[in-house]
Amino acid sequence: MPLSKLSLPPFARGTVWLCGAGPGDPGLLTALTMHALAHADAVVHDALVGRAILALAPPRARMIAAGKRGGGQSVAQDSINETLIRLASEGLRVLRLKGGDPFVFGRGAEEAAALARADIPFRVVPGVSAGIGGLAYAGIPVTHRDANSLVAFVTGQGRDGALPALDWDALARACPVIVLFMATRTLPEIAVKLLAAGRAASTPVAIVSNATTAGQSVIETTLGAATLDLRRKQAKTPAIIAIGEVVRMRALIDWYAPQISNATDAIALGA
Ligand SMILES: C[S@@+](CC[C@H](N)C(=O)[O-])C[C@H]1O[C@@H](n2cnc3c(N)ncnc32)[C@H](O)[C@@H]1O
Repeated sequence: MPLSKLSLPPFARGTVWLCGAGPGDPGLLTALTMHALAHADAVVHDALVGRAILALAPPRARMIAAGKRGGGQSVAQDSINETLIRLASEGLRVLRLKGGDPFVFGRGAEEAAALARADIPFRVVPGVSAGIGGLAYAGIPVTHRDANSLVAFVTGQGRDGALPALDWDALARACPVIVLFMATRTLPEIAVKLLAAGRAASTPVAIVSNATTAGQSVIETTLGAATLDLRRKQAKTPAIIAIGEVVRMRALIDWYAPQISNATDAIALGA
């Protein structure tokens, strides 16, 4: 169905749409984000948004790279906020395009708050998070009635880059399924904490790299062997990590074949 048949809200001049681009496969873009891409005058995008998605913007649109990849050079958050405010104040339709969902470990709320303080009208368009959609492309459901009635989304990297000071004992005891973002560097530390808190060394773990793209790869391991496998098999980034019994579902429902996929937009922007 063409987008024009949906009654989508107009993308007004002088406003910012804060949109999630999903984990990589352009097919996971929402209708609202496609609509915003078609009408944007300026696109301020994260490094995790792939080329095939950016190519959907009009040729006349100003393309501005912001955000960082895995500890690399980052554009300061204040400067991104200022750019959004300045472009909207110039009367442009500004699309702020972020990987996954803008409000899941994506600083989307900080940008929305800055726009609110500056009286710039904005809209938030949720996206498919790597923590759900990325794992689904690896045949891993984040919930299953036989395995868990609870799932925890955890970042392996706090504001200062170090492992967040969580109650890891409580997490290990209470959460059968733990989904880790930005955690390839801190996984060894996390594994030690979860094992010390009593999680079995045989607990299944999957490290899903470049999820939903043609470059998707999966390392299946266990909590006891994760540190060694991470190093030996050289997990690529970005990677989303699932810990828990749901990983075993892959044996039956691993449906995605990246090599014959249309999702050709493997994220190729450095580590
Ligand atoms: C700054 S966070 C942004 C998360 C994003 N807002 C989301 O909802 O998916 C970046 C982290 O998301 C995960 N990630 C994002 N895209 C991914 C992908 N295509 N494959 C695997 N992990 C991905 C990785 O853990 C990466 O380090």
